[in-house]
Amino acid sequence: MAKRILMVCLGNICRSPLADGLLLRKIKEQNLDLTVDSAGTANYHIGKAPDLRMIQTAAKHGTSLDFLRARQFTSKDFQNFDHILVMDQSNYNDVTKLAQHDTERQKVEYFLDYLYPNQKAAVPDPYYGSLKDFEEVYQLVDKATDALIQKLINEH
Ligand code: 4NP
Repeated sequence: MAKRILMVCLGNICRSPLADGLLLRKIKEQNLDLTVDSAGTANYHIGKAPDLRMIQTAAKHGTSLDFLRARQFTSKDFQNFDHILVMDQSNYNDVTKLAQHDTERQKVEYFLDYLYPNQKAAVPDPYYGSLKDFEEVYQLVDKATDALIQKLINEH
């Protein structure tokens, strides 16, 4: 069965929709046996499209995000996904709090660990930043999605 990946950040309007949309594009281009979705730990932006600055930054690089809509992470996601990839430590804490046993907790990983193993590094939150911050997040998430794909292909 296709590996199911869930990208998680706080608002589900900047970092995780970017990771979702970029991975989705690569899945299609490379014909990969993966499925992807994204969610936020907070309920602030449920139903909203990604932040316009994130949409425009991704569009500049040929990645469309405008069709995505924010939703909140729920404990059901532990059953529906194989890898739950968080963008920072606060996402990690919020998501693991909802885990009911170790099998669920072990599904939660730092997304950037695929690029920089065991560092628990954060994808910086660009929400209060400048367009340059959005561009830097794009570059980082682009590299991390490539690393994720390589790792999952090698595991196969
Ligand atoms: P995200 O960014 O977690 O990457 O979607 C944020 C979006 C919204 C807020 C914070 C971070 N906010 O406070 O509304």
